[in-house]
Amino acid sequence: MRLYMAPLEGITGYVFRNTYSEIYEGVDKYFTPFIVPAKKRDLRNREKKDILPENNIGLDVVPQILTNKSDEFISVAERLREYGYKEVNINAGCPSGTVVSKDKGAGILKDTDNLKRFLDNIFSADITIDISVKTRIGMNDGEEFYDILDIYNEYPIKELIIHPRVREDYYKNSVNKNMFLYAYHNSRIPLIYNGDVFSINDYEEICNTFADINGIMMGRGILMNPQLCEDIRCNKESKPDYMRMRKFHNLLISGYADDMGSEVNAMFKMKELWTYMIRCFDVEENREMAKIYKKIRKTRDFCEYMSLAAQLFDNYCA
Ligand SMILES: Cc1cc2nc3c(=O)[nH]c(=O)nc-3n(C[C@H](O)[C@H](O)[C@H](O)COP(=O)(O)O)c2cc1C
Repeated sequence: MRLYMAPLEGITGYVFRNTYSEIYEGVDKYFTPFIVPAKKRDLRNREKKDILPENNIGLDVVPQILTNKSDEFISVAERLREYGYKEVNINAGCPSGTVVSKDKGAGILKDTDNLKRFLDNIFSADITIDISVKTRIGMNDGEEFYDILDIYNEYPIKELIIHPRVREDYYKNSVNKNMFLYAYHNSRIPLIYNGDVFSINDYEEICNTFADINGIMMGRGILMNPQLCEDIRCNKESKPDYMRMRKFHNLLISGYADDMGSEVNAMFKMKELWTYMIRCFDVEENREMAKIYKKIRKTRDFCEYMSLAAQLFDNYCA
C-alpha cells in the first residue's frame, strides 16, 4: 500500500518534509499545504519557497491548490508544471469558516453545479499535468457524496483522496467508513483513504476492508508518532526511539529558525508540533515530565524552551 503524508497547513511545509525524510522512512509522496492563487499577485513568498524544486530535492511532492476559480487554478497549475511538477491536487476539504464562506475548500461541495463547472473548465483546458482531488464527503450530511462522486466520476482525475467526514465535522466525530465503502464500490477513480489512521491496527483495518485502494494518506498520526510509517512497513509496533526524535526535533527547530530568521518563531512552530508529538511521551503518568511539558507550552523564551526540551529528551533518552 502506498503511504502519503497529508498536507497540514502551518506544519508540513518544505522544512518539515526535508527534515522528516532525513530521519524517517516510509512516505511515498508528500502533499504541500494549500497554495491560494490570486489574479492580481504572484504566489506568496512562503508558497514559492515551499514548491521551489531546490527545496524539495529527492522528494515526491504534489502541490495542493485551494481555489474555486478555474482560471486561477489553470494559471498556477501551468506555473507548477514549468517548475517540473507532474501532478497538482485540488483542495475540496478545508473546513475553515473563512475558506468555506468563499465557496472554497469544503465550500466547493455546496453547489454541485458550480463544482461541475469548475471541473469542466480545468479538465478541458490545455494543461499537461495530472490532477488529483482531496475531498470531504459533503458539507452537512454524508449522503451528499452520492451526487458529488457522480460528478468526480465524469473526469479523468488521477486519484481521489477521500477524508470521509463532512465539513460540519471539522476533525471531530468518527469517520464515515460506510460512505467510503460506497465510494470503494462506485468510484471509477483510483482511491486513497484519509482519516484517523493513528496506529498499525487502524492501518490494517483499512487495508483489510478496502484491499484494492491505491494508498493511505496520514497526517496527525505521523505527527503523533513519526515512526508510524516505518512501523507499518515492518508490521511491528516499535518503542519510540527518543534519540531519533531528539535529532528530528533539533534539526527541525534549527531548519525553521534559518527559514524564518527567528528562533522565537521557530519555537512557536515546534509548540504546535508538540501538541501531537507529546503522545509518544507518557506525561500523563509522569508528573515530573508533565510539569516540564507545561513549561514548554508556556514559555516565550527560546533559550528556556531549548533547555526544557533537552530536559524532556534527557529523561527519555537515558
Ligand atoms: C493543522 C491542520 C492543517 C491542515 N491543513 C490542510 C491543508 O493545507 N490541505 C488539506 O487538504 N488538508 C489539510 N488538513 C487536513 C489533513 O490533510 C487531513 O485530511 C486530516 O487531518 C485527516 O487526516 P488525519 O486523521 O490522518 O490527520 C489539515 C489538518 C490539520 C489538523
